Amino acid sequence: MSGTPDNPCNPRFVPYEPYVTGETPETAARRFYEILDRRRTVRTFSDRPVSRETIENLILAAGTAPSGANKQPWRFVAVQDPALKKEIRVAAEEEEREFYFRRANERWLRDLAAVGTDEHKPFLETAPWLVVVFKLMKDDAPGRLSDQVYYVNESVGIAVGMFLAAAHVAGLVTLTHTPSPMKFLSKVLHRPAPERPFLLIPVGYPADGTMVPDIHRKPLDQIMVIDR
Ligand SMILES: Cc1cc2nc3c(=O)[nH]c(=O)nc-3n(C[C@H](O)[C@H](O)[C@H](O)COP(=O)(O)O)c2cc1C
Repeated sequence: MSGTPDNPCNPRFVPYEPYVTGETPETAARRFYEILDRRRTVRTFSDRPVSRETIENLILAAGTAPSGANKQPWRFVAVQDPALKKEIRVAAEEEEREFYFRRANERWLRDLAAVGTDEHKPFLETAPWLVVVFKLMKDDAPGRLSDQVYYVNESVGIAVGMFLAAAHVAGLVTLTHTPSPMKFLSKVLHRPAPERPFLLIPVGYPADGTMVPDIHRKPLDQIMVIDR
């Protein structure tokens, strides 16, 4: 909601247009859950191309997320240049070796063994796109009233959730990846200091024969409480 030209602090209102599904909420909610329940993180990608238009629409979908004071404190850097992907892989594997062989404690390594991850990250080159999400620690929108941002982690987390859901609905797969630390991404991608790396998300199609860990989602009675 932008301010009126004569007073930027005075919000302008427009009629809300309800989204009507034509289904009952029960049916629509069940159907959406069943679609999302088939999303899985994959770690082996095909090099099959994905169009730039598709990635643009996934990012537009992410950009519809709610955000603290509507600051939209995110930037999605979409990388498709093979040389740049290689640069990211080399830097990421360097950090990962440090993590797996020095920084991670026993318990963390045991938890990661259960999802089958290690220091090798070939998907950083095979996936057709790497979407690197940055959180903005200062608002840089043209015409902003101030540089302040609010609830940045919550806002960017919600936007990423929408991105992952949109990619899944588009028939694509993603890997929510957190090379740790991620500082190298700012350097490789020449991002300014107020942008902090948040997540690295390879996007594409699964390699033939892709396998995923046999993990299970918590049942409703473990994740939902009604009243007290
Ligand atoms: C914040 C976050 C960080 C993650 N980091 C990694 C990662 O660095 N490498 C990896 O292989 N998977 C990573 N994952 C993926 C999780 O391991 C995966 O989501 C989880 O095992 C559940 O599997 P599912 O996504 O197939 O339901 C991450 C997920 C989240 C939400």
